[in-house]
Amino acid sequence: MKTTINQVGQFVNQEVTIGAWIANKRSSGKIAFLQLRDGTGFIQGVVVKAEVEEDVFKFAKSITQESSVYITGKVRADERAPSGYELTITAMELIHEAVDYPITPKEHGTEFLMDHRHLWIRSKKQHAVLKIRNEIIRATYEFFNKEGFVKVDPPILTGSAPEGTSELFATKYFDEDAYLSQSGQLYMEAAAMALGRVFSFGPTFRAEKSKTRRHLIEFWMIEPEMAFVEFDENLEIQEQYVSYIAQSVLENCQLELKTLGRNQESLQKIQAPFPRITYDEALAFLHKEGFDDIEWGDDFGSPHETAIANHYDKPVFITHYPTTLKPFYMQPDSKREEVVLCADLIAPEGYGEIIGGSERINNLELLEQRLNEHQLDPKAYEWYAELRKYGSVPHSGFGLGLERTVAWMAGVEHVRETIPFPRLLNRLYP
Ligand code: 4AD
Ligand code: MG
Repeated sequence: MKTTINQVGQFVNQEVTIGAWIANKRSSGKIAFLQLRDGTGFIQGVVVKAEVEEDVFKFAKSITQESSVYITGKVRADERAPSGYELTITAMELIHEAVDYPITPKEHGTEFLMDHRHLWIRSKKQHAVLKIRNEIIRATYEFFNKEGFVKVDPPILTGSAPEGTSELFATKYFDEDAYLSQSGQLYMEAAAMALGRVFSFGPTFRAEKSKTRRHLIEFWMIEPEMAFVEFDENLEIQEQYVSYIAQSVLENCQLELKTLGRNQESLQKIQAPFPRITYDEALAFLHKEGFDDIEWGDDFGSPHETAIANHYDKPVFITHYPTTLKPFYMQPDSKREEVVLCADLIAPEGYGEIIGGSERINNLELLEQRLNEHQLDPKAYEWYAELRKYGSVPHSGFGLGLERTVAWMAGVEHVRETIPFPRLLNRLYP
């Protein structure tokens, strides 16, 4: 029976054939252990010299790492095996022999691994991270569809800059200037006025000169936008969504979490509601903790965020930032015009800001004033301003950074391991 590694449980004590690669190998004079992988999972294959024809054992001993094979063997349930099964190999057929595979089981430096990212993703740990990424994407679509959101795809080539003009990737659009999208938000606001509750999922680009474990040049963002939703309800949807993906990862990625050695207790605690503190309260807390150099009106850096997050065992919302720190489109607090109705969601364990969101300005005059203050070309934003001309309504939305969320849930240190081919400050290869 031809099958895959993740399906062998259906064939206990039966003979199966699997197309696989040799991930690793160990052998003695009498027995060979082959670590097999086929994309769906990993399993150990055992070849016992005394039980197979001579050439099968010889082949098992000489086969090289990452060679591809068809393997036939009997499935055995084995409690000690991570997947729960082992394969007692009876026959092997070479598909292609790999010569001098560069990533050996020994330790390699990060730059070496990044140069070989096209191969590194085959490794067990990277495989687990990419499976968790896939689960978060799957659960995202499931959550928003369940909640009645419509998936909308904003453009990648744009003429506007929602998050400020300093980090844009500019390109030519025939005779015009264009930018790679920093955020689909402005288009999602238009979509919300047409479809009510919408979400997008796509690549976004920031020419940020930041070389940190949280920054990518190209990253993927989930951006929901909702008509008739005000500040508080926006936060409720965020905490429900984040709880949903955490619980989905716990439920559907047990093998992967174990492979990565992820502490699951901290994931289990990701359950709505999440604590909320204002920027002012956060600032007072930081002063109390000895961060003397920060004043009202300063942005929080990652040491500040981490200090605040360490105070909680769940993600925490920091709300009502000073207007001057945030983009042009955020709705001011009617009781305090110097702050806006926004929230950043900070993950625990030092993973930093996962979500940025806000209620949006719905008054035309105020929006025009802000475009002016931010020196944005009113012509380029005419269509966006028009949303405030024809049945303007309160509306809110947010953006969740996928890679930071994967890093957090998978428990990996750096976002470069959470996307198949990371684009970093000094890296466009492979
Ligand atoms: O806070 P940001 O810049 O918010 C926006 O772009 C809004 N327009 C979203 C919206 O309201 N629709 O980015 C949102 C999230 C951040 O919280 C972070 O998780 C992630 O995107 N992010 C990055 N992830 C990796 N590398 C970078 N350079 C990132 N910049 C932002
Ligand atoms: Mg932000």
